[in-house]
Amino acid sequence: MKKTILVTGGTGYIGSHTCVELIQAGYDVVILDNLYNSSKAVLKRIETITGVLPKFYETDILDAEGLDQVFSENHLDAVIHFAGYKAVGESVSKPLTYYQNNIAGSLNLYETMKRHQVYNLVFSSSATVYGDPASVPIREDFLLGPTTNPYGTSKLYNEQILRDLSKAEPEFSIVLLRYFNPIGAHHSGLIGEVPNGIPNNLLPYIAQVAIGKRDYLSVFGSDYSTPDGTGVRDYIHVVDLALGHIKAIEYAFGRKGIDAVNLGTGHGYSVLQIKDAFQKACGKKIAFKIVDRRPGDIAECYADTTKAKEVLGWSAKYDIDTMCQDSWRFQSQNPDGIND
Ligand code: NAD
Ligand code: UFG
Repeated sequence: MKKTILVTGGTGYIGSHTCVELIQAGYDVVILDNLYNSSKAVLKRIETITGVLPKFYETDILDAEGLDQVFSENHLDAVIHFAGYKAVGESVSKPLTYYQNNIAGSLNLYETMKRHQVYNLVFSSSATVYGDPASVPIREDFLLGPTTNPYGTSKLYNEQILRDLSKAEPEFSIVLLRYFNPIGAHHSGLIGEVPNGIPNNLLPYIAQVAIGKRDYLSVFGSDYSTPDGTGVRDYIHVVDLALGHIKAIEYAFGRKGIDAVNLGTGHGYSVLQIKDAFQKACGKKIAFKIVDRRPGDIAECYADTTKAKEVLGWSAKYDIDTMCQDSWRFQSQNPDGIND
């Protein structure tokens, strides 16, 4: 029998790509999203790509009764939990809002899962839980924290809550996926990242410079101890990331307990290298200025991918040029986002 996966935050950037891959892998998908940072139009786009219109609930994870209804109306085998706020800077100015949504909302979800005996969970964590790592590449057994902002702390707390839950309720099977820097878009150009307002992240910012919405890219610091002085990150294609979730769900079904796995490529690229790759992809010059470092940024962050290969049988396959080409296709085909 087909398994049914509840995807919270399923109309968002990573969630929508994961729904496409889940459907194509033969799962039934139920999406729950309050549409805070995404549009209902994403559902039709998923249908265009897969031929399946996923069942959708416009529900907030803070709404315990609403959650209960979703669990009562569907026979769920597992949950992939993407729903949350993710803007690092905003989390510094609105910590309570972030903790309310990312912690209280998640607690509601875990409580509802327990009540309805849905024990398989994949949680969207982040490389931000490692804080400023002692060295790179980063392994899963590195020390966690201290984090540098409430968003990061909300991920670290969720991980701890889930470790405690796993100890107390051994029937749970939980996979913590620590994403590095997801970029790119589905090859169709139909779904991708739609930033709200001025983008915080590098790729959406560069894409908006390329399309003429922004004048130039501010490169945050050129005096890091990296080959060209600019920050180095592990950029991973969002479709590779989505495929990692399919493997993580399969892993969760076959075991009990809790485990954490990095999802990255294992390769670091600097800000200037990304700018150059994007220029190549879009055929336009990206104007840039070197400015001061951004507070809280670290020099280098990239994954050790050994564990993902060993326990999930997964590794990323798309290269940086493909990531930039797919980002550009989505940006140029959807200059005003996904609203139809
Ligand atoms: P996104 O904002 O595109 O998607 C999150 C979705 O959750 C949105 O559709 C939003 O409307 C929904 N949502 C937010 N609060 C909700 C609530 N209370 N109830 C129901 N729905 C709610 O973000 P994304 O980039 O797809 O990220 C997905 C997850 O991955 C997040 O948990 C994020 O913290 C984590 N993550 C993202 C990155 C990244 O760089 N994009 C890196 C590491 C981890
Ligand atoms: N950068 C610029 N200019 C910009 C934006 C970014 O130079 O306008 C630089 C940053 O200084 C950094 C690199 O580009 O060196 C990447 O920055 P992002 O903001 O795109 O990504 P971060 O690595 O800072 O953080 C991202 C997510 C976090 C997540 C983390 C690890 O935003 O939520 O990856 O997964 F926790």
